[in-house]
Amino acid sequence: MSVPTNSISSLERRGDVGVLTINSPPVNALGQAVRAALRDGLSALIADDAVKAVVIRCDGRTFFAGADISEFGKPFVEPDLNVVFDIIEASAKPVVAAIHGTALGGGFEVALACHYRVAAASAKVGLPEVALGLLPGAGGTQRAPRLAGVEAALDLIISGRPVKADTALEMKLIDAVASDAGLVDEAVQFAEGLIADSAPLRRVRDMEVDLQSDAARAVIAAYQEKNARLFRGPVAPTNIAKAVEAAATLPFEAGLKREAELFEELMEGRQSGAQRHIFFAERAAGKVAGLSRDVQPVAIQSVAVLGAGTMGTGIATAFLSGGYEVTLIDLNPEAVERAQGRIYKTLDGLVSKGRLSFGAAAAQKSRLVIDSSLDAVASADLIVEAVYENLDLKKDVFRQLDSRAKADAVLASNTSFLDLNAIAAVTSRPERIIGLHFFAPANIMRLLEVVRGSATAPEIVATGMALGKKLGKVAVLSGVCDGFIANRAMAPRVTAAEKLILEGPMPWDVDRVMTAYGFPMGVFSMLDLVGLDVIGWDRENSAGRTVQEVLCERGHWGQKTGQGYYVYDENRRATPSDEAAEVIAGFADKTPVAMDDEALLERLLYPVVNEGAKIVEEGIAQRASDVDVALVTGYGWPVWTGGPMFWADTVGLDKVIAGLERTLGPDAVSPLLRRTAQQGQALAEQTAPH
Ligand code: 3HC
Repeated sequence: MSVPTNSISSLERRGDVGVLTINSPPVNALGQAVRAALRDGLSALIADDAVKAVVIRCDGRTFFAGADISEFGKPFVEPDLNVVFDIIEASAKPVVAAIHGTALGGGFEVALACHYRVAAASAKVGLPEVALGLLPGAGGTQRAPRLAGVEAALDLIISGRPVKADTALEMKLIDAVASDAGLVDEAVQFAEGLIADSAPLRRVRDMEVDLQSDAARAVIAAYQEKNARLFRGPVAPTNIAKAVEAAATLPFEAGLKREAELFEELMEGRQSGAQRHIFFAERAAGKVAGLSRDVQPVAIQSVAVLGAGTMGTGIATAFLSGGYEVTLIDLNPEAVERAQGRIYKTLDGLVSKGRLSFGAAAAQKSRLVIDSSLDAVASADLIVEAVYENLDLKKDVFRQLDSRAKADAVLASNTSFLDLNAIAAVTSRPERIIGLHFFAPANIMRLLEVVRGSATAPEIVATGMALGKKLGKVAVLSGVCDGFIANRAMAPRVTAAEKLILEGPMPWDVDRVMTAYGFPMGVFSMLDLVGLDVIGWDRENSAGRTVQEVLCERGHWGQKTGQGYYVYDENRRATPSDEAAEVIAGFADKTPVAMDDEALLERLLYPVVNEGAKIVEEGIAQRASDVDVALVTGYGWPVWTGGPMFWADTVGLDKVIAGLERTLGPDAVSPLLRRTAQQGQALAEQTAPH
């Protein structure tokens, strides 16, 4: 019989085994009450003479999901997790963790402090603190290397990627895999086996690390060199490497102390605050203000994707991996066959990298059908249009889709800047039209902008948001405007960059400043990659000739012609183009101005902050943190700065406004930005007016 000890824990005896169950929805985060319940429950079971072994488990959807992130930055309230761990490690009775769902961060550290670990087959374990700009601060960096070895532990913690139960078993992070349905019974049996065998208590702290001092240092240094990219920008990976080194070079207690110092350093730094902001912002983004809980998403099983270009192919791939039946349609039969070949190749690539099982890839391939007739949309629950970006073409396509699709089908456009309302208006079902704006490559980028038209019905909005989650993406709701959230907010930095190169700085100066800030790519490298011809022809409002047009006229279209703002060698390595410099000189102001990197950064990024604020005050985004999420997940805005809105708060809004007034003029400054500064509030916390 299970005896509730308080609202979140209960104790139960099964023969000689005492079972402590924690139930703290939604994810059993290790907040103060949970830590106290663990301390009290464990103490009670260990003190009970009738109990010979203990099992710790959780109710609900998962084992402990880690420390309670909402407690970070607030005054600490006892007990510390280490108190709980001391109780386990001082126990003369074996303690077994029974893991289901995801044992993450502090949650997995609880399991690591136990003597043994049993996980359900579908469970995952991991130490994802790096994503919060932190390191495992409850012994994870000291215990994981003792079980899995220095190199595997380092990779587990630096990648932050959870591993499945069978992999965890291979890595020796857990001791047994149980069936999903029988986890508790099997964990109890495991504990009974320990009692019967008088098995030794396996305290991870007492184990030897596989590599000692110099050997460990060499392996860590080699890892850092091989993965140099992961250590550029964010500071957490460097501290993680130091903590793992401590595991191999110091006694356990000293290693723990070192871990605690390195953890504190990160917790007090700016980056972790920014990454925690993004963690909660991503979860807030999924919530639609004013949408009643009763509104249910429409059930979607079959998806037709129209257009077999790069976007359509990527979108089809994304839906396949989300478990949908996909029909990819292109009126050109060769194009759609080529697309099928590309999708197969992507899936095969994932299999050879070990990211997808052979069986899962085969299942995805079998769910893909290709067709070259629009009639093939007839049975689809959802149709995603990804044809060329032209309003008349899209209107024509939607008229045809409307007459062929099921009456209750949802029709989506992947347009990146066209007027969704104008598209919806040509159909008989504007309430079932939505924008699903994917970012290239659509099967990889995490952002999905769900665009709500003026007529889009609430359940269709809910459907778009639910699709995002099912595709493993971050769905951000956007209203209709030119460029929606991410493209619109980022556009001003291109305008600023093009102006800057006429004042003295060179394209490579601009790009260097952006990559030093943490962007994967600078503006001009990006233009070269996309193709100056493409961007040049789409450009509106360009008064007179531009540097880009002249480069195009000379046949320098960027990477595809081997030259643009940069010159590219056969390995696509870029060096500054003398010719571009000469063209720029022809346009440039007579007296070039010297600008330091900070001044350049202000010119490039303050306008993004300003545009982001306008996007919020116009109600295009629901909240400022959505802008941060969109740019971090869609544009590679460095997550450790928290996105533009959070970053502006750290810079100081008055400083941002002063910079904008200097370069864009006082009238251009967003009223929301001004008001927020005057009221001494945080920009990242602003929401759209209702
Ligand atoms: N602390 C506080 N709240 C948390 C939380 C945590 N560790 N993990 C999740 N939540 C909250 C979410 O904010 C969300 O709240 P909301 O409903 O009010 O928006 C709710 O729990 C549900 O979360 P998800 O929407 O993310 O639920 P999913 O089912 O999609 O995912 C999960 C579950 C995989 C557990 C996911 O929530 C997750 O990855 N959580 C974070 C795990 C993590 O990073 N742990 C490490 C924490 S740091 C740490 O442990 C430090 C230690 O080393 C000392």
